Amino acid sequence: MRMVDLIIKKRENKPLNEKEINFFIQGYTNGEVPDYQISSLLMAICFQGMNEDERYYLTKAMVESGETLDLTNVLGKTVDKHSTGGVGDKTTLALAPLIASCNVKLAKMSGRGLGHTGGTLDKLEAISGFNIELSDEEFIKQVNDLGIAIIGQTKDMCPADKKLYALRDVTGTVESIPLIASSIMSKKIAAGAKTIVLDVKVGSGAFMKDLASARKLSLAMVDIGKRFKRNVSALITNMDEPLGEAVGNSLEVIEAIETLKGRGPKDFTELVLNLGAHILVNAKEAETLNEAMGILKNQIDNKQALAKFKEFIKAQGGDFSFIDDYAKLPQAKYHYLVKANTKGYVKAINALDVGNYCMKLGAGRQTKDSIIDLAVGVKIKRKIGDAVDHDTVIGEIYSNQELPEIRINEFRQIFSFSAELVERRQLILDIVK
Ligand code: URA
Repeated sequence: MRMVDLIIKKRENKPLNEKEINFFIQGYTNGEVPDYQISSLLMAICFQGMNEDERYYLTKAMVESGETLDLTNVLGKTVDKHSTGGVGDKTTLALAPLIASCNVKLAKMSGRGLGHTGGTLDKLEAISGFNIELSDEEFIKQVNDLGIAIIGQTKDMCPADKKLYALRDVTGTVESIPLIASSIMSKKIAAGAKTIVLDVKVGSGAFMKDLASARKLSLAMVDIGKRFKRNVSALITNMDEPLGEAVGNSLEVIEAIETLKGRGPKDFTELVLNLGAHILVNAKEAETLNEAMGILKNQIDNKQALAKFKEFIKAQGGDFSFIDDYAKLPQAKYHYLVKANTKGYVKAINALDVGNYCMKLGAGRQTKDSIIDLAVGVKIKRKIGDAVDHDTVIGEIYSNQELPEIRINEFRQIFSFSAELVERRQLILDIVK
């Protein structure tokens, strides 16, 4: 087999078979096929796409390129969730203990932030002492004992995806639905859970900018999951404005705890309950979404979900006293209130701009070695459709540097306003099963 023939075949829009896909994935992983040929093939895939079989073979080849997590020693139903990434997306922090308090087992490997989007690991590291590295035995034991463990990726999972992703990043080939679908699903399949719920974000702060693309991506991922015999569904959710109020590591941890205390922002609470309900139904812990929703709300009201969060933080060495005293989390030196300075309705809050603003405050990782400031970030106090007057506080900035008026104004300009009534954004746009 020759790599050049595969490139020509794909360029001419002919599907690659399993052997051909294995050939290029294995060859690339072990360094026999050079970057320039893979770049060319990736570009051909971007233009010509891949059919269902090709996406499955690609995912399978990437899973088989490395180690997988064996969850056969976990007693009970294993579940996982994945978000395609957004701004203010602290969902795992609230959802994980909530569902773990409902008789399912969440053995989760989480990632760091990518671009303007934050990662669960960075957020967990705002908690003093929290350990994201457990051995396989410790990890499985904790999942069996508590129903929940979240760690960074310890195994060498999907090395082919790691190499391909880095190449896609510098060759303009990230934005391809089959490539994104197989990249995400290879890691979910390698992580072993039987039930997977995907949160596919769509809007200005997401990879997918429109609903049609988000649907295609969701269908592709659900199809891949089913071929691996996993229970998968995808919720397509709005990322035109940040999720909830808080964006920034410590601030997001606090918001997740507030949600477990029953005091979270409406949109964030709605997302957590809906994802949780799909997980419980898919895992056959509830028959209907309504029943599942009732179980989850009850676990918040009776404080079981919060108790599970406390146990989880304690088990992984974290100081859980911050749950009752947020001042124990990293604190920013400066706090600014930002007012609307106009009368009307919030028309748009560009989530990508909010993410980038927080990156500039130091909340994100600009390079893989940069140190992130866990204390800084912003709060969005008025969402799309909310009425404002001149003195209405629309946002708050938490910074470790004194900010000149021009930087505060920059944040205000992320909001746009209309004199006319603006419709609120629907959070859950579609469900793909
Ligand atoms: N996240 C991934 O893991 N892979 C992609 O290709 C895009 C987003």
